[in-house]
Amino acid sequence: MKTLTTIAEVRHWTQAQRKAGKAVHFVPTMGYFHEGHLNLMRQAKADGGAVIVSLFVNPTQFAPHEDLAKYPRDFERDFAMAESVGVDALFMPEPQEIYPPDFQTKIEVTRLSQPLCGVSRPHHFGGVAVVVLKLFHIVEPDRAYFGEKDYQQMRLIQQMVRDLNLRVEIVPCPITREPDGLAMSSRNVYLSPEQRQAALSLNRALQWAQSQVESGERDLAQIQAGARAIIEAEPLTRLDYVEVVHADTLEPIAELHDRALLALAVYFGQTRLIDNRVLSVD
Ligand code: PAF
Repeated sequence: MKTLTTIAEVRHWTQAQRKAGKAVHFVPTMGYFHEGHLNLMRQAKADGGAVIVSLFVNPTQFAPHEDLAKYPRDFERDFAMAESVGVDALFMPEPQEIYPPDFQTKIEVTRLSQPLCGVSRPHHFGGVAVVVLKLFHIVEPDRAYFGEKDYQQMRLIQQMVRDLNLRVEIVPCPITREPDGLAMSSRNVYLSPEQRQAALSLNRALQWAQSQVESGERDLAQIQAGARAIIEAEPLTRLDYVEVVHADTLEPIAELHDRALLALAVYFGQTRLIDNRVLSVD
């Protein structure tokens, strides 16, 4: 596996793959890999391209009070894990390679960035959009793989690709969970054993909601209230939001017709976890 640190090296690598007749499949990450990341890489590999993974803890998607400095990092472990699933190249730029002095441009996907996580993290999705757009221009991938755990991020990137006529195909990949149902996240390492136990209420609430739909419930306010009650029953939780929204527009909806998104963001101590499930009538 090649390690690339400059934009010029990535462009050179991409050109070489194309000359060899290969498609380029791209997995953008902030590192500290877990099975969820590895599944994105496996999918990218299984789809038959040369696979490049970026590992860049993007400063512009963290607010000053958030956990940028504290964000977990372990480059050696990440390198070994990426290599073990057959990744062809790892792009690990320094911050100044992506944001040279005097960088000024902003990207805003207006409506999709406002609800859910956009309320408590108003600058987050602007930072995500700008770095992902830059990475797409640097790597020029045929396909890019995004996990559905960050559902709002995935929708926003799909919208940006459509709005700006980017040529990349976005491939959404299902959430990877621990055997007990906790969605995999680099932030899970911060949880104490008690907090980790309390965090299981997230997946319990999501499963309960889908079972309500299967029993014929269509009133989404009822489902939202029930899911909220399951999570609030855990003493160690502090809710950011529990919301049911349209699965494509992320706008509020009252009644389930075909698909809706139940999205959660909950603090366990200082650690904020997100999870979601698409509630579907089928
Ligand atoms: O999902 C992430 O890890 C990040 O938001 C991403 C897409 C790599 C952009 O920094």
